Amino acid sequence: MDKFFHDVLIVGGGGAGLRGAIAIAEEDPNLSIAVVSKVIPMRSHTVAAEGGAAAVIKDDDSLDLHAYDTISGGDWLCDQDAVEVFVGEAVEELLQLEHWGCPWSRIEDGSIAVRSFGGMKLERTWFAADKTGFHILHTLFQTSLKYKPIQRYDEWFVTDLLVEDGRCQGVIALEIATGRVKALFAKSVVICTGGCGKLFSFTTNANIKNGDGMALAYRAGVPLKDMEFIQYHPTGLPFTGILITEATRSEGGVLVNKDGYRYLQDYDLGTPQPKPVLRSMELGPRDRLSQAFVKEQEKGRTIKGPYGDVVHLDIRHLGKDTINNKLPFVRELCLKYENLDPIEEMIPVRPVVHYMMGGIHTDINGATPLEGLYAAGEVACVSINGANRLGSNSLTEILVFGKRACIAAARFALEQKETDPSLELLVKDKVSQVRERYFNTNGGTESIAGLRGEMQKVMEESVGIYRNEDSLKGAISTIFELKERFQNIRVTDQSYTFNTEITSAMELSYMLDVAEAIVHSAIARTESRGSHQRTDYPDRDDERFLAHSLAYKEDKGAPRIEQLPVVITRWPPAERVYGK
Ligand code: FUM
Repeated sequence: MDKFFHDVLIVGGGGAGLRGAIAIAEEDPNLSIAVVSKVIPMRSHTVAAEGGAAAVIKDDDSLDLHAYDTISGGDWLCDQDAVEVFVGEAVEELLQLEHWGCPWSRIEDGSIAVRSFGGMKLERTWFAADKTGFHILHTLFQTSLKYKPIQRYDEWFVTDLLVEDGRCQGVIALEIATGRVKALFAKSVVICTGGCGKLFSFTTNANIKNGDGMALAYRAGVPLKDMEFIQYHPTGLPFTGILITEATRSEGGVLVNKDGYRYLQDYDLGTPQPKPVLRSMELGPRDRLSQAFVKEQEKGRTIKGPYGDVVHLDIRHLGKDTINNKLPFVRELCLKYENLDPIEEMIPVRPVVHYMMGGIHTDINGATPLEGLYAAGEVACVSINGANRLGSNSLTEILVFGKRACIAAARFALEQKETDPSLELLVKDKVSQVRERYFNTNGGTESIAGLRGEMQKVMEESVGIYRNEDSLKGAISTIFELKERFQNIRVTDQSYTFNTEITSAMELSYMLDVAEAIVHSAIARTESRGSHQRTDYPDRDDERFLAHSLAYKEDKGAPRIEQLPVVITRWPPAERVYGK
């Protein structure tokens, strides 16, 4: 059996993982760092981010204003101590990226250009045209290459956490190229695997976003926090779900219904104004804009399309130069995937699952309740996003908390002795479980694609923008049944080299566990807050629910849902007000 030893092991090679790896290498060059990723890092989903990263830089702005927008945008479910850390460290992180070569867009005098973004009441979103994630990830990747202690395990799929003596001491992983299952020991482990949009049938997320890290932690007894809060981005392309960035609206794009009417003025989001007051209406928070779409649909004011109802995003008036200079990727996406040129035609869009506010429960330093295990980025819930994340906070989040979690994991690792030899037995057991489970299932009858499709359908239909007790009860029983049927899956490809059927099966098992945590958290929260809208409980209920949900996996049956109070420092709960 091949074994590998490191001080800190990071699962995931996207923005949070790479930022964290660099931070450890800079903190102590003697520490050995593993970055284990199921894809080559430049294929991580960070690369797909378009619009920008938030940090206060203008004179009329302040850390408190950024914090308040974040907290009110999150419908007061954010932990305010975490938000204060976040806004405080944000600008330093974006400047650090600049020093590593990130080509932030600039205005004519050479200073950093910033745009408005959804729910942010001032311009504080830094951007690199509309390919911000690509440039951030590229910058981090090329920077990571100069640090020798960072050792990459590209295309290794993590199947288990190694937990012994109440401490996480490494992982079991499948080397996808060879089909070999191996043990990677570490004194601490940081999960940075991103979100789980693929639980839903219509998402901006890449196929790799299957909740792997969430499920790994959940199975190891770590609670998943606030899983009922799922963000729909208001402007995805129909059919593909590809993101059309909020930057289109920041530049002046407008949303119109089938009558050509800017319908958002009917939803307490302000009235049409010329720029620069445009930041109300189309630049309201994502939860409200997505809910407004559903209301328009109910009124019969959306447009029927081959892939469901849409509204139109109109950017034609911005003109060719602005579109080519500031939104080149949007134009490319429209040409390639919709066969239309947004300089001349309106873009059909609809809400699409984009982001998980919930995730692995961590403290402000990314530490989970399991000793030796840390998490950062979308996979984690630290929690700065509360019930609804503001656009452009997540790219900054992966930097601030990727660094913090990995530094904390490095310091923890420095205090640990060498790996416990008794782990050998656990490793043997885990490795044979993986082999038995997945390399020996030709006799099963359930197809992976079939179960996945059923899961995505029920999640989209019953746990979407609006939910209620009946829809959630239906989802609970479907997810339970799918988990039972998963025991009988068929993996027809039994080869060892790049067996993506096996990794798809593993991903499905992760998704089903995460789905279980989502549906049970959603039924337990009998109020409406942010992205969690219960038609049977339409009001926010601070008396009973100014609290996080924690979902704990049980050996059998439903997860246990507990509550944890929200940390309030300086901003007591108030009404969310936009457009005034
Ligand atoms: O619309 C966007 O560019 C998305 C940004 C984000 O999710 O932060």
